Amino acid sequence: MQHSFFMNYAVEIAEKGRFKTVPNPCVGAVLVYKNKIIAEGFHTAYGKPHAEIECLCSAVEQGFFYEQIQKGLHFSNPVLQQAAEQHKDVRSAEKVHMEHCALYVTLEPCNHFGKTPPCSHAIAEAGIKTVYVGCLDPNPKAAGGCAYLKQHGVTVHTGLCENECRELLADFLVWQEEKRPYCIVKMACTLDGKIGPAKGHSHKISGRESQKVTMLMRRHMAETNGAVMIGSHTFFEDNPMLTVRGIETETQPKAFIVTRKLPEIQNGRTGYYCLDERKNTVLFTSVHGEKDTDAFKNLGISLESVDKNIDGTLNLKQVFEIAFQKYNCPYIYCEGGAKLAQALLKEGLADRLVLYMAPCILGDDSAKNAFSGNTVLTMQEAYRLKVLKTEQVGEDLHIYLKTEKPCLQD
Ligand SMILES: NC(=O)c1ccc[n+]([C@@H]2O[C@H](COP(=O)([O-])OP(=O)(O)OC[C@H]3O[C@@H](n4cnc5c(N)ncnc54)[C@H](OP(=O)(O)O)[C@@H]3O)[C@@H](O)[C@H]2O)c1
Repeated sequence: MQHSFFMNYAVEIAEKGRFKTVPNPCVGAVLVYKNKIIAEGFHTAYGKPHAEIECLCSAVEQGFFYEQIQKGLHFSNPVLQQAAEQHKDVRSAEKVHMEHCALYVTLEPCNHFGKTPPCSHAIAEAGIKTVYVGCLDPNPKAAGGCAYLKQHGVTVHTGLCENECRELLADFLVWQEEKRPYCIVKMACTLDGKIGPAKGHSHKISGRESQKVTMLMRRHMAETNGAVMIGSHTFFEDNPMLTVRGIETETQPKAFIVTRKLPEIQNGRTGYYCLDERKNTVLFTSVHGEKDTDAFKNLGISLESVDKNIDGTLNLKQVFEIAFQKYNCPYIYCEGGAKLAQALLKEGLADRLVLYMAPCILGDDSAKNAFSGNTVLTMQEAYRLKVLKTEQVGEDLHIYLKTEKPCLQD
């Protein structure tokens, strides 16, 4: 078996923690002996043990540390130590020499005293002598695990399957390196790339199964304190609810609306669902003034003033900064429309794109395109994206894409 096989498997199991580990990263770890995986673990949720500890706990529970525990091995990590005490009499059928095991972990083991002692200490205490690391920890508080292990006689190989591990960590890297929410832009379109007819709104382009996927994504937003974002036209034309419906949920995501125009308030109502019926909507606008802020505050709506760009549009980088700093928002799920989606691409803020392509064709030149707002003359100016995955969901085709930075149009 190749080293990359074990690391890719660690990536695969780490993915199970997606949206549960926030603000921590998704991490996976596997312990390999004689070319076979003998234990594995992943970070299951924020506040739960790290992947390395889950993996070592599994090894303890299977009796791989029987002799060491009998001889008095004591782990400084309380979860691991508790597992050792509870399973001290469990002995594995095959004797495993820890010094001949290799641990594969997608992210550098942490080296700081947070809620628990560092994972680097637990690995060294376990007697493991070889560690493969996917990528180094960008968080300066937690980094240093590799150096600690080396100082304690462990051979550390870094950068194994680094691209796959960085992909796994894409959200965490954005939080750490760019200090902004990670943004997924979703658009439903026809086979000819239209998001709706020239007149009227775009409802029901995608099928029922696609809409379920959207509901699940909205629930992930709700559970992680994330937000669903829309542009001004989508807000005024479609008057969407942006709620989780048809599946169980304990909470609703925040709704972020990016608009320079504010709706009128009459008798304490605006006629727009997101403002009248929801209490966790934030209007990002260029309209300043205490009067407006107070009027919307009275409706239970937050109003954030942001600067305008040279072309008069709102400064989306500032929107993201406020979302991250003030609202502690880790994810933004943008549900259109075309101008906002393209502006996010242009600003380098659209980390992932998900296109739902419905098997229908409008064939109308005046129908709305999935992305709009640019005048380009050559293919060199096109935004370049990389397809990560495609899947058929009901009748629709879902295309998951990643943007390649920097954008050529800038
Ligand atoms: N099929 C789908 O998946 C889907 C999803 C959503 C919407 N839609 C459809 O798309 C249509 C609306 O799309 P659209 O492209 O016309 O409008 P949009 O993207 O919803 O909104 C664009 C507007 O947002 C405001 N805005 C503020 N700052 C901006 C910035 N930095 N960049 C871009 N926009 C900014 C501007 O209006 P202000 O002047 O008010 O600031 C701008 O004109 C609707 O017909 C809707 O039904 C389809």
